[in-house]
Order: sequence, then C-alpha cells, then structure tokens
Amino acid sequence: MGDELTHIPVLPEEVIELLDPHPGQVYVDCTAGLGGHACMIAERLGPDGTIILNDMDQGNLDRAKVSVANALCPDAPGSAKVHAIRGNFAELPRAINNLGLKADMVIADLGFASTQVDDPQRGLSFRFSGPLDMRLDPSMPITAEELVNTLPEKDLAQIIFRFGEDKSARRIASKLVAAREVEPITTTDRLAEIVRSAIPGPRGSIHPATKTFQALRIAVNDELGSLDALLRSIGIALKKSHAGNPSWIATGARVGIIAFHSLEDRPVKRAISEWTSNDWCESITRKPIEAGDAEIASNPRARSAKLRGIRAGK
Ligand SMILES: C[S@@+](CC[C@H](N)C(=O)[O-])C[C@H]1O[C@@H](n2cnc3c(N)ncnc32)[C@H](O)[C@@H]1O
Repeated sequence: MGDELTHIPVLPEEVIELLDPHPGQVYVDCTAGLGGHACMIAERLGPDGTIILNDMDQGNLDRAKVSVANALCPDAPGSAKVHAIRGNFAELPRAINNLGLKADMVIADLGFASTQVDDPQRGLSFRFSGPLDMRLDPSMPITAEELVNTLPEKDLAQIIFRFGEDKSARRIASKLVAAREVEPITTTDRLAEIVRSAIPGPRGSIHPATKTFQALRIAVNDELGSLDALLRSIGIALKKSHAGNPSWIATGARVGIIAFHSLEDRPVKRAISEWTSNDWCESITRKPIEAGDAEIASNPRARSAKLRGIRAGK
C-alpha cells in the first residue's frame, strides 16, 4: 500500500463545530483511521495540544501518528505530544487513565476505513475477490471464513438476522450450510454468489449480499459489544466528572459519536438519553447531524453517517 492512501473524514466541519477545539487542549480519537479528523483538530490545538490516537489496526494507526504529529507541530513533529495506542476502544479509557490525562474532546467514528474496505485481502467487500477474512485487526483470532464454515445453521441465521437485519436470513443460512458441505466457502465472491442464489426475485439497487457482509463483519469484530463497552465507560466517566471525582473526561468536554447504521445509532441514542436524564451531561445535537448533498456527492460513505454529541457536566 502506498502513501497516497487517504480516508476522507465524514462531516468534517460539523465535527470541528461540535468538538470546538482550543489551543493546548487534549483530544482523544477512539478510531484514528488515517487521522483525517485528528489532523483537522491538531491544526487547531497547536504545539501545546495533546492527541491520543487509538485504532485496532496497526497500519492505520502508524499512518495517522505521522500525519497528526506533522499537523500538531509542523516545525518539530518529533516533539508533538501524540500518544498512539493500538487496541480496541473498549480498553481505551484504562490507557488514558494510565497516562494521567483528561480529555477535552472525544470522537468515535465507527466502522471501517477506506484502507480496509478497499483492500481485497481483508475480504470486507463483495466488490473485490479475496479471502473471507473481515478482521479489522488482523491479529484477532476468528475470521468470517471460520464463522461461515463452522457455525450451526441456526446461529448463522441469527447473526444474519440480528446484525444484517435481513429477512431472508434463514434461507441464506440454509444455502450456506448446503454449499459448505460441497466445498468450504473461502472467498468473498463465492459467499456473495451463494447469498444471491438464496434471494429470489428482481434485484434491487443494493447487492443482495450487502446485509450478510455487514452481519459477518459485525460478528467477527464484535462491533456492537465494543460499542456498548465504550458507551458504558463514557457513562461512568461522565458520572464521576459530574460528582467532582477524578475522571478521564473533563467537565465541559465534548464527545461526538458517528454511527453508520441503526444498530450503531440506537445504542448511542439510548446511552445519551440515559446520561442526560441523570444530568451527567447535556446533549448538543437535538437531532443527529447528517451530511448535506454536496458532501454525499463527493464522499458517498457520508450518506449514512449520523453524528450525535454531548457536553460533559451541566
Ligand atoms: C471510519 S474509520 C475512522 C476514520 C477517521 N476518523 C479518519 O478521519 O481518518 C474507523 C476506524 O476505526 C477502527 N475501529 C473500528 N472499530 C474499532 C474498535 N472497536 N476499536 C478500535 N478501533 C476500531 C477501524 O480500524 C478504522 O481504522
């Protein structure tokens, strides 16, 4: 992969406005990706600012670290206060506590980066032929190939129904089990073809395998479990901060979460409503913020982005 790889950050101006960065503040990016959002914030924090970058993908994290250090301290990137932490964001609050830092801004831009979905070797997309992997962190133990070839039919159907919200889940699972008895399912194109054969009738505008791919990716990476853990940690930190106890989230800090489908947005909405009803924070997005037509035209992934935000304390 060359250095020309980029990931266009979604809702860039909206994220800046929501986080409201000031020179010298501490910014925590739970999903650094290629550092798109982080670089925009870094330019506003200046050399006295501190940035914590987290990602479960070492390749993305390494790239983000270099560009963010340059954006934070263009004259002396080596002296930039950038902490790069590789791992699941579910574990991030502990790492921030260990650094003894308090966040003035936190962002989580959920899902995958373009470097991941456009890499055929990751097996995240039926647009490319590749191995059925789907791990965002290649050191994780379970691949989509293992799930598809070993799970009982009932469990496969449940994953496709719950995480893909696909009404044809049972039929797809039954086809997958029949096909794997003939020969293990090891590639994205074979999976896509089997799913397509399970769904009769005219083709709509989206590929019939879209939901199955989403479901398997969510299951392989335990995406909703990680999100729940992050939301729980943010809630605990807000509660502590509200009570005047030490917390990794500063009073007055702004937190933004960008979801890309309803399975992500629902728990975020629920968590914010719990935090606000306890007076631990105030919501600063009455409705989720969505991309305008111009952004969607230049970055189609922004079409489904929903940004919700809060300010810690009352
Ligand atoms: C949409 S991209 C972030 C893009 C970034 N905001 C930018 O502007 O470049 C999502 C990133 O989050 C990472 N990621 C997804 N789930 C994660 C998790 N549970 N823990 C840590 N990183 C995660 C992915 O590896 C990916 O690099």
